[in-house]
Amino acid sequence: MLSLAERAVQVLQTADGRAKAALGRAHAADWFAARAAGTRLPVGHAAPPLRPARPEKPDLLDPRDVPRRRPGSAQGRIALLHAVAHIELNAVDLHWDIIARFTHQPMPLGFYDDWVKAADEEAKHFNLVSDCLEALGSHYGALPAHAGMWRAAEDTADDFMGRLAVVPMVLEARGLDVTPGMIEVFRKAGDTGAIAALETIYAEEVGHVAYGSKWFNWLCGRDGSDPKEVFHRLVRHYFHGTLKPPFNEEKRAEAGLPPDFYWPLTEDLPKVTAEETSSL
Ligand SMILES: [Fe+2]
Ligand SMILES: [Fe+2]
Repeated sequence: MLSLAERAVQVLQTADGRAKAALGRAHAADWFAARAAGTRLPVGHAAPPLRPARPEKPDLLDPRDVPRRRPGSAQGRIALLHAVAHIELNAVDLHWDIIARFTHQPMPLGFYDDWVKAADEEAKHFNLVSDCLEALGSHYGALPAHAGMWRAAEDTADDFMGRLAVVPMVLEARGLDVTPGMIEVFRKAGDTGAIAALETIYAEEVGHVAYGSKWFNWLCGRDGSDPKEVFHRLVRHYFHGTLKPPFNEEKRAEAGLPPDFYWPLTEDLPKVTAEETSSL
């Protein structure tokens, strides 16, 4: 029987977006079927690729070269959904990557339950947004996309807590800040399909941030370290730039992210060096 880590690597090695999502969803169904039957798939070990396989299209461009379109126009809404589809596909890979990459650090089974569920939801999100694009006569791959999306994964490839700090607790938390504004764009346009998709994403992303916060705090508790201090040092080391308000304080609170975690990171401070981080 293939282990969870080997299954995660299979997803990472699948290039086509819909195929990647379908394979991930099938593996998640197997994981939860085993759990419901009172058994479990082995977590195992596997070597994830440094970069996941991706389709030939979209072309990946430096963010400065990705053309901007007015959000009020039909083309602008397609561009917005295309950017969200790209984020969701990246999120599928990010979640399977964290499952496969850090199996040398023993974690409770509940950690894998949370991440398999999040990975499954990201695949659902990618499919929902791809459906919206297709309903508008476009598709994922029709426009260029942001090339820098995998950078956070590469930067934290050797640092489990750094990954938890930067991916769910910074990047996915940022999604909570910006999604209500996106829903508003589609509400003005009367696009009920896109509203429904984005509302599903918004609701489920609170859970993903909460999983990050829960396991980050758990690891700090196991080490006897102060989660807020460790978070600040890791984000300053691995994240490029400062955090940008306004924050969705309410949803961040619901996800277990208190204001004193993120507000201090809105200030530009000198980068924390590798030595300081390794002494954590
Ligand atoms: Fe998502
Ligand atoms: Fe997510």
